[in-house]
Amino acid sequence: MSVFVIGGTGFIGHRLVRLLVARGQRVTCMDINPGAHSFADLGDKVAVVRGDVTQFDDVMAAMTKAAPERVINLSYMLGSDHPPHVAMKLNILGMDNCFEAARLLGAKHTMYASSLAVNGKQTHYGDRPVTEADDVHGEYQYAKHKIVNEWQAQDYTEKFGMLITGIRPANVTGPDKVRGSVDHVNVITESARGNAIRFPFKDAMRCPIHVDDVTEVFARVLMADKPQHRIYNTGGVAISLGEIADIVQGYLPDAKIGFDKETGGKAISGNHMIDNTRLVQEFGVQYRPYRERVLQIVNDIRRGNGLPPAG
Ligand SMILES: NC(=O)c1ccc[n+]([C@@H]2O[C@H](COP(=O)([O-])OP(=O)(O)OC[C@H]3O[C@@H](n4cnc5c(N)ncnc54)[C@H](O)[C@@H]3O)[C@@H](O)[C@H]2O)c1
Repeated sequence: MSVFVIGGTGFIGHRLVRLLVARGQRVTCMDINPGAHSFADLGDKVAVVRGDVTQFDDVMAAMTKAAPERVINLSYMLGSDHPPHVAMKLNILGMDNCFEAARLLGAKHTMYASSLAVNGKQTHYGDRPVTEADDVHGEYQYAKHKIVNEWQAQDYTEKFGMLITGIRPANVTGPDKVRGSVDHVNVITESARGNAIRFPFKDAMRCPIHVDDVTEVFARVLMADKPQHRIYNTGGVAISLGEIADIVQGYLPDAKIGFDKETGGKAISGNHMIDNTRLVQEFGVQYRPYRERVLQIVNDIRRGNGLPPAG
């Protein structure tokens, strides 16, 4: 089956491309930065195209050539500090270009990444897991754009009968994550590099999920013929930066992790209690224990730095 991945050389994208190929799919990866990851070892199983998702002609030309049954858009501007015009073009117009091209070419299933950011702060919901049916309270540029993306998908679905599915990943973690929420990653990676690191609040809450688990989620849902829902939470592990630091120091006793304050972070933390019953029941996903994932990241970094494995 032909699968078209926009943003396919990114943090999640390059792993998804590789997983899809391992499962027998023919993949076309379109990215504005095609050199960010090499798929040379996969030979002709992956076609890599330089293309800008904000340019409809680029998307149409590459997608027409690939004639995909499945399309997924992972290209995005992570974070909320971007100039409005630039972010709007990539996040909103880019998404529309993807949906419109998929519509014109009759793709059977189109997917995109939303985010837990749509929910905003956990305090909107109290001390309970948030479901996909809850109202959204996202406040900043990134969250607002994801909320609009979910609306764009619904609009295309309702007006044209398209099948479009969104995933709301939690705080994705991995050794090479450098964009988006990174404090929960840096506490692991900087310690593994032997660097001291400091954060404002020990009780700041996050909901990490390893990038391999998120990739598996995207692959399973993308290959489904008819997912039952339009949106799925990935969920993850609700944990404080202080607790992550404790796990890291269990593997690296000399790690120098400091906090300015013990408390004050939880009250301003984003949504971190997440219900992923939909995904688990329909797709049977199971995540490896977070503690194991921390060790995996520690050792990915140590291997890269020529250090012996920890743990
Ligand atoms: N990483 C996370 O923690 C996280 C959490 C929730 C949701 N998400 C969402 O998952 C998706 C993928 O995230 P990621 O972490 O892999 O991001 P990433 O920044 O690593 O990857 C995005 C890719 O899009 C490409 N791109 C940027 N502008 C483009 C353009 N104009 N045309 C074509 N390609 C372009 C980039 O070159 C990059 O390869 C995004 O939608 C992101 O918002 C990520």
